[in-house]
Amino acid sequence: MLDIAFAKPALPRSGALVLLVGEGEMPFGVWQQADEATGGAITRAFAVAGFKGGKGKICTLLAPGAGLSRVVAVGLGKPAELTAHVLNEAGGHAVAAVLTEPMSAIATGPLQPTYAAEVALGASLRAYRFDKYRTKEMPEDMPKLAKLTLLTSEPARAKSGWEPLQGVAKGVSLSRDLVSEPPNVLNPVEMADRCKKLSELGVRVEVLGPRDMGRLGFGALLAVAQGSANEPRMVVMQWHGASGNGRKIKNKPVAFIGKGVTFDTGGISLKPAGGMEDMKWDMAGAGTVVGLMAALAARKAKVDAVGLVGLVENMPSGTAQRPGDVVTSCSGQTIEVINTDAEGRLVLADVLWYCQQRFDPHFMVDLATLTGAMIVALGHEYAGMFSNDDALAQKLSAAGQATDEKVWRFPLDDAYDRLIRSDIADMKNIGGRPAGSISAAQFIKRFVNNKPWAHLDIAGVAWSTKDAPCIPKGATAFGVRLLDRLIADHYEG
Ligand code: BES
Ligand code: MN
Ligand code: ZN
Repeated sequence: MLDIAFAKPALPRSGALVLLVGEGEMPFGVWQQADEATGGAITRAFAVAGFKGGKGKICTLLAPGAGLSRVVAVGLGKPAELTAHVLNEAGGHAVAAVLTEPMSAIATGPLQPTYAAEVALGASLRAYRFDKYRTKEMPEDMPKLAKLTLLTSEPARAKSGWEPLQGVAKGVSLSRDLVSEPPNVLNPVEMADRCKKLSELGVRVEVLGPRDMGRLGFGALLAVAQGSANEPRMVVMQWHGASGNGRKIKNKPVAFIGKGVTFDTGGISLKPAGGMEDMKWDMAGAGTVVGLMAALAARKAKVDAVGLVGLVENMPSGTAQRPGDVVTSCSGQTIEVINTDAEGRLVLADVLWYCQQRFDPHFMVDLATLTGAMIVALGHEYAGMFSNDDALAQKLSAAGQATDEKVWRFPLDDAYDRLIRSDIADMKNIGGRPAGSISAAQFIKRFVNNKPWAHLDIAGVAWSTKDAPCIPKGATAFGVRLLDRLIADHYEG
């Protein structure tokens, strides 16, 4: 991760300098010093470019003199409309503009120290790269940014504001690493091994294999796994941040459950070839849960939280499940498998039921790249939210707005539940084309026993094909910041 430091404002003698400029602000401090040292080059450039500090606007000067390689101004917009999100994005824009510079400084001007910390968060999120499989790269494209210093009048306070945010950034980075890994490397066993590393942060990690899950009656999850040469795993992660280090959780924990299909071919109901490589990120729900648990532990959140992930590979083979099979889930309910490509809900059914029986949590939130229909409905902007609890849904919506990981609520209704009635078993695993995302949510709801619960269908938001201010293209880690915020705002202390 990018090395981020905080220091008192002083004009750098070399490297790149970023100026955060609010609309209507006059030059002062480092900005004024840089302008004077370059003979007024910054003022002239702003005039030529018409740069006035508008939100997200950028003005770049190359080799402006005074030893600086470049000066980049990033607009913050109107001071009265400044939010954490605007500051995160400014940090992201800044990093994108100086990525090829080894050393850069960001002058945060009159911003409070906690605001400087939010700039640092955005910078850290945008600086993420997944380069481990590149052995050569064009030198001019090579990012060189190694150290970023935020210039602020109160560096010590900014640094203490940054510490918890850095924990969140680490969780996001871990989540992105997992989701970016190719599917030949990150199979269920490998992913479980990476989860075990969370024990270094103080997370209690248990890994269950196929025999354990067989004893627990996980007939739905194991049916998905049976076509693959790679064994399935379930990982149970516990963070006892409120109860302390005792082995027993004193309070009801909050619970997060993730779909971890490390590759989804569709199984015997095979997917078409075009774009199938995207199904390496069908474990993004699980990736978010792991990143969230890491974030909570890294920032020592005062909450008792459990994270459970169901890890399987969905393959077609001579041992694969067939359309028409009937399987018995951990809850005892039977499922007619009409389409083996509707596998995520089979995995979630067993993990959700198990989580509820074992932990009796305060609430459960599951995350899954569950349906292509979700992308048809919401594109790549919002995740779909389904919930049996208005208060939980409201809190999730607010946390989504605050972190820009937005969710939009969809209905649940007995009329939709009827779509998954089966002629032979308690339910079937698909409801047909109409309301495909809702019938999937109704299926999952049958494995929730009157507990506050929300299901986030992240099919459209887990992966991005273009850069955003705080998200380089690729794995987004959607949900880590949202759920961290939900906990920070309502379930800590
Ligand atoms: N993992 C897919 C959903 C998906 C598709 C996520 C595209 C991201 C991008 C899921 O397992 C799936 O295959 N769903 C089917 C369900 C259908 C068979 C009812 C779908 O959406 O087509
Ligand atoms: Mn599928
Ligand atoms: Zn899937």
